[in-house]
Amino acid sequence: MNPIILRTLRGEPVTRPGVWLMRQAGRYLTEYQEMKARHTFLELCTSPDLAVEVTMQPMRIFRPDAAILFSDILIPAQCLGIHVDFSPGPVIHNPLVPAGVEALKIRTPQECVPYVFETVRRLRAELEDFAGSGERPALLGFAGAPWTMACYILEQRPYKHFHGTQVHAAESPAEVTQLLSLLASLTAEYLIEQIRSGADAVQLFDSWAGNLSIEDYRRWALPPTREIVRRVQAAGAPIILYVNGSAHLLEAMKEAGADGYSVDWRTSIKDAENVAGKSCTIQGNFDPAHLFGSREAVVGETRAMLSTVGHRGRYIANLGHGVLQRTPRENVQAFIETVQAGYPA
Ligand code: CP3
Repeated sequence: MNPIILRTLRGEPVTRPGVWLMRQAGRYLTEYQEMKARHTFLELCTSPDLAVEVTMQPMRIFRPDAAILFSDILIPAQCLGIHVDFSPGPVIHNPLVPAGVEALKIRTPQECVPYVFETVRRLRAELEDFAGSGERPALLGFAGAPWTMACYILEQRPYKHFHGTQVHAAESPAEVTQLLSLLASLTAEYLIEQIRSGADAVQLFDSWAGNLSIEDYRRWALPPTREIVRRVQAAGAPIILYVNGSAHLLEAMKEAGADGYSVDWRTSIKDAENVAGKSCTIQGNFDPAHLFGSREAVVGETRAMLSTVGHRGRYIANLGHGVLQRTPRENVQAFIETVQAGYPA
């Protein structure tokens, strides 16, 4: 049988919600911190041995229903000749100016970041072994959406909510459009290669598009997103679109045509379902800060979240954003176990 997350995204029958956590690998785990003491973040991303190990850490500890490739949205920016470092957030050494788009030298993901695909191939085999005779967890690939990628590439470091990218868009609309369409084709190619290497589904992270008005979202972020969705679906895999701070954008997000929409705690599951309709999956929306409460509080709030789900066959439980540093791991465990126990009666 296909993994539960994949069945959900395809609208096939499921008996309970699937569950995984954005940023489920990372700094809240001592096992990860031990690896970070010996390797840089870039080493963890670029060595398939290390990336497989970090991806599998939360799988062994919590047994969620999906593994997400360990990498970062900025890794494929190297295909555009953008040099990125992490301290711990991304630092771009040679940010682009819009006028520089024309001169960008593009390398294919296969030649520039082959280690990502090797990691995906190894993970797929690892997950088959891990599952034994039980159901295999899904393997998720991912990428940053073009608007969010442009924010990092054009601005070097996050500041003032990336308003600078909106300034660039207003000043140099033709160049920004060109950059976004370049990122759309690179990202589609990158995700399709992850699927060919064994990813069951992929998620597109648009972490900064929530800064845009719905008109600007439709003008800048949506067209390249729609292009990626179309090409990934044509390659035969479902795609989830995550936009942080998207409560005001739901109507427009839906126009992307994705299989799943991931929303944060500021959007209710009901509102998301009402906009998306019954033919797509909703994912979310637990506030990661609430994982710092008591175990009883986490269990209670997780059940409360599940009780708001109307389209029970088309829902995946997740957080509204990534796991925060210092999150108590027993609460991550409680969240996952509560979801896996099924919908409250
Ligand atoms: O979800 C997972 O477990 C897979 C791994 C993953 C990472 N980054 C690892 C990471 C994923 C899916 C991402 C996506 C990512 N990266 C996004 C989109 C999601 C979101 O958070 O909105 C963004 C915007 C980035 C850029 C980025 N990378 C930031 C802002 C930071 C610093 C903040 C932070 O949480 O640490 C990073 C570094 C990063 N990416 C770390 C990890 C585990 C921390 C590095 C360390 O251990 O020092």
